[in-house]
Amino acid sequence: MKTRQYDIKDPTLAPAGRKRIEWASRQMPVLKLIRQRFATERPLEGIRISACLHITTETANLALTLKEGGADVILCASNPLSTQDDAAAALVEYGIPTNAIKWEEEVTYYKHISTALDHKPQLTVDDGADLVTTLHTKRSELIKNVIGGTEETTTGVVRLRSLERAGKLKYPLIAVNDAPTKYLFDNRYGTGQSTIDGITRATNILWAGKKVVVCGYGWCGRGLALRAKGMGSQVIVTEVEPIRALEAVMDGSQVMPLIEAARLGDIFITVTGDKNVIGKDHLQTMKDGAILANSGHFNVEIDIPALESLSVSKQRLRPFVDEYTLKDGRRLYLLGEGRLINLAAAEGHPASVMDMSFADQALCLEYIVKNRGKLEPKVYPVPEEVDKQVARLKLSSMDIEIDSLTPEQKEYLESWEEGT
Ligand SMILES: NC(=O)c1ccc[n+]([C@@H]2O[C@H](COP(=O)([O-])OP(=O)(O)OC[C@H]3O[C@@H](n4cnc5c(N)ncnc54)[C@H](O)[C@@H]3O)[C@@H](O)[C@H]2O)c1
Repeated sequence: MKTRQYDIKDPTLAPAGRKRIEWASRQMPVLKLIRQRFATERPLEGIRISACLHITTETANLALTLKEGGADVILCASNPLSTQDDAAAALVEYGIPTNAIKWEEEVTYYKHISTALDHKPQLTVDDGADLVTTLHTKRSELIKNVIGGTEETTTGVVRLRSLERAGKLKYPLIAVNDAPTKYLFDNRYGTGQSTIDGITRATNILWAGKKVVVCGYGWCGRGLALRAKGMGSQVIVTEVEPIRALEAVMDGSQVMPLIEAARLGDIFITVTGDKNVIGKDHLQTMKDGAILANSGHFNVEIDIPALESLSVSKQRLRPFVDEYTLKDGRRLYLLGEGRLINLAAAEGHPASVMDMSFADQALCLEYIVKNRGKLEPKVYPVPEEVDKQVARLKLSSMDIEIDSLTPEQKEYLESWEEGT
């Protein structure tokens, strides 16, 4: 039996959500073109999609695109703190059952995932792999219906590759995160800008003159360091991977072990996808007043149980600022309960960058349906033609033209004969 169940905070928020979804759509020209084509070609006709994504105005535009393509879409949140309740309400009005409430407890979070799976998906769309993991572990009887799926973020791709290595992955998945039109822009410029935005909205701090410690110099860390410098902060990078550490040095950041940076930093931001990056020893070393935030996918990057155990009291000073007073009187400020701060305290990535990530998503889902039965239970890269198409459309939406190779240049670049 088909489920049309939804669970949102407040249906009266729908008009405000609609307006913001419309505003986001104006910054998403590539997705709009795909939506127009989908409306005529209906490549997803009758396909049931369960999507576990951050419920934002940008996600609403993706869901509407898939619906326009003929799909029967149900949504649930991919993080308990990232939901925009007005967007969720509007989605329900648009006829897309949505199961997401900002500040939901873990039990509700998983109940919402379960509701999304009751939809008996033929395609899954995930951000962090909680949906796919639940499907493989607790609802494996539903896997027989699934044609394939997509994964939006680095942490999700890491988990799926691990499932694949263990020989337990049961259907094909495309690693949308690993497409250059995704990580080069979304992870770098999207996370860079929106993390600064989230921390600013949470705290109203001045960035100029602050020592900002960025833990992890991957795509998100690079963007974050770049933007923090632009705000006048001095950036210290911590890494475990030598090439990335060297890149951070040459990009003009100080690089050192976190235990040394712990003494110096005013703001610590984790973007590693790893756990307990900021641990007890670091917390014990930090200055009075240090701010701790995370923009990695899960709330495990800062050891919150260690912070709790070192503290004698805790109070919420602002909606996303918890003050922990330690036994020696120092105060540390944890933002957004250690959940990704750009989505908890701000609105996540700007629509203009999600335009590309979600264009990749829509085209990959179309690709999976077109290649139904031909793909194996593996983690696949985004097809190169999809990536190139998204880049071309984005450039064209910005009124930017580029050169093309002459036949002579093409031949030269493919040959080995010509030298000095
Ligand atoms: N907040 C958002 O909106 C958003 C957007 C995109 C990605 N993400 C998430 O952000 C995280 C990072 O993504 P990415 O694309 O930058 O990944 P990435 O793999 O490119 O980079 C992660 C970096 O962290 C480093 N690292 C791992 N453990 C470390 C440790 N203990 N100390 C210091 N460095 C360490 C790795 O060496 C690597 O260079 C992931 O969890 C991803 O899912 C969040």
